[in-house]
Amino acid sequence: MTGLFITLEGPDGCGKSTQVAPLADYLRSKGRTVFTTREPGGTAISDQVRQIIMAMKNTTMHPRTELLLFLSARAQLVEEVIRPRLAAGEIVISDRYADSTMAYQGYGHGYDRDLVARLLDFATGGLKPDLTLLLDIDAEEGLRRRQSGGGEWNRMDAYQLEFHRRVRAGYHELASQEAYRWITLDGSQTPEMVQLAIRQAVDSRLS
Ligand code: TYD
Repeated sequence: MTGLFITLEGPDGCGKSTQVAPLADYLRSKGRTVFTTREPGGTAISDQVRQIIMAMKNTTMHPRTELLLFLSARAQLVEEVIRPRLAAGEIVISDRYADSTMAYQGYGHGYDRDLVARLLDFATGGLKPDLTLLLDIDAEEGLRRRQSGGGEWNRMDAYQLEFHRRVRAGYHELASQEAYRWITLDGSQTPEMVQLAIRQAVDSRLS
């Protein structure tokens, strides 16, 4: 028995984090066992790595260090949590996953994307999502939302607007490269409308 691996992706402030719990409730109401997690984090070890990545005091962190920390947090999450639950037939929903690394470190920081892809493959043991929901939003609008209280402001948010624009464009490219697993939704709609669209997308994938 194998489960279903769903990831939510998007630029900072796209509103995906508020969508996870209602989606999980919806799937549970259909009788599925659902586990939700988020990245970076999701295990005791990965949460400690998250603290290092996000801390505003770590201004001297080199982008290469940052990339490797995201990968190490993910390697632990995949082995400790995601794989075993998928193997047990559960639906796993992750708020961010490997595509975030490609969008932020690959496109945002401009690292060699073939190399990032190989590193991701190593860190995840090749585990890819079955379905990825991209909540698309203008980079400026997303950051405005963050600054006006939509989530905690962290070291990643503090990168230049240009960085966040490259991230968004990167997501668009990723979604077009592997269209079979991506569904792009308009993140500027109300949370209720976004949830409705997410449920429709997941239903069509499940059927
Ligand atoms: P978080 O507070 O979880 O924000 P969000 O609600 O936007 O997910 O912060 C995660 C930040 O880390 C976010 O700016 C995206 C970034 N990130 C990467 O740069 N690479 C990665 O591989 C992951 C998982 C996240």
